[in-house]
Amino acid sequence: MSGTGSERPPVGIGRERQFEVYVGGARGVHPCVPVSFERLEEAARNAMSPEGYAYVAGGAGTEEAIRGNRAAFERWRIVPRMLRDVSVRDTAVDVLGTPLASPFLLCPIGVLEMAHRDADVAVARAAAAEGIPFVFSNQASRPMEESARAMGDAPRWFQLYWSTSNDLVASFVGRAERCGCSAIVLTLDTTMLGWRVRDLDLAYLPFLRGKGIAQYTSDPVFLEALQETLKQAPPPSGRITLAALGTLWDLAGSYPGSRLASLRSGLARAAVRRFVETYSRPSLSWDDLAFLRERTSLPILLKGILHPADAVAAIEHGMDGIVVSNHGGRQVDGSIATMDALPAIVEAVAGRVPVLLDSGVRSGADVFRALALGASAVGLGRPYVWGLAAGGEEGVREVIRNLRADFDLTLGLAGCASVSRIGLDSVDRVG
Ligand SMILES: Cc1cc2nc3c(=O)[nH]c(=O)nc-3n(C[C@H](O)[C@H](O)[C@H](O)COP(=O)(O)O)c2cc1C
Repeated sequence: MSGTGSERPPVGIGRERQFEVYVGGARGVHPCVPVSFERLEEAARNAMSPEGYAYVAGGAGTEEAIRGNRAAFERWRIVPRMLRDVSVRDTAVDVLGTPLASPFLLCPIGVLEMAHRDADVAVARAAAAEGIPFVFSNQASRPMEESARAMGDAPRWFQLYWSTSNDLVASFVGRAERCGCSAIVLTLDTTMLGWRVRDLDLAYLPFLRGKGIAQYTSDPVFLEALQETLKQAPPPSGRITLAALGTLWDLAGSYPGSRLASLRSGLARAAVRRFVETYSRPSLSWDDLAFLRERTSLPILLKGILHPADAVAAIEHGMDGIVVSNHGGRQVDGSIATMDALPAIVEAVAGRVPVLLDSGVRSGADVFRALALGASAVGLGRPYVWGLAAGGEEGVREVIRNLRADFDLTLGLAGCASVSRIGLDSVDRVG
């Protein structure tokens, strides 16, 4: 390394962030959350309830798919090129008209209140400050309008689960449009919840405690239907235990308005019942997509695609993008890893629509590798949730800044001055 030790500010987010951390350290100021993924997760675990941690960390069955996602990334090695003037690097990309300061966005993650009380709003603020789009979850802990308000003009998308009510689907999409979302991400892989052993062992599902249903309890169509449920609500049955009372208390606290009022009215309990009846539609099929296509002129991306034939079908049904995802290994144990699925999907799509990828992205090298295989951008999931748990809004900001910095340095050190220079020849498959 050379340098005069002075003076000129570092160029690019990578060197800027290194400088910030090291100079901070010299002054006795340390980052607010650990930089390493393992230590970050550990810090989050210490800050969370056992149920909250299990819900975020867990996957389906033996969690082979979580491990498989990582193994698939590690099979691809970056092959750096030299002497290519990388003094100035351009990490920005544009996906379907949405600007990304670096080629990643924040995945939709439900029930963020399990990580931090400021939940989605803290993430929205952090994403806006760092120029990284946030995909609002259908299972958010805060209504999308609140997150949107926290973001100013910064880019955001909305993720949709297709419920049993098309009126509710249309209402969510209309709200997303009014919230300034510039794309709809329809998640296809969760028509039922996967067999999540950690949650089953704790006998804990956050939705049954009224958590993660804020998009519903803030929705006019849902609230109207709730009146029906309220009329039919059976009186509580079975022995009243202390645990049941605790659950009722939790539930009442998660419904808008005062706890006491919602206990009296029975609204919170009815909302959970209504949610359980409504939230998923396992019968969903390709023909249903026409309904959504007619409802919005926003780009629609299908999330959860793992087979090239499904990617082709998505395009044939007028969809505008693909998210190659196995939901972070939470749905199908033993599912194909996303990095293994990506090449055939990119080939089948042949540049007609952008292909994004998530599940297992942990570092700048992962972003680089996915782009080398043809992804337009990637989704960051659990790492930002750990940042939120360990450090609130500032924790999320640091996780984003660290990934942006790591990617910027990886890009330059691999010999690429911009994202467009990354190609298949930038990586080599081992094993
Ligand atoms: C706790 C948790 C909640 C999630 N909630 C949603 C959700 O509401 N909607 C959705 O489409 N995907 C959801 N996902 C999946 C993420 O969008 C993304 O696909 C996944 O986190 C990527 O895997 P990774 O976090 O291991 O990188 C969730 C994931 C986790 C870990």
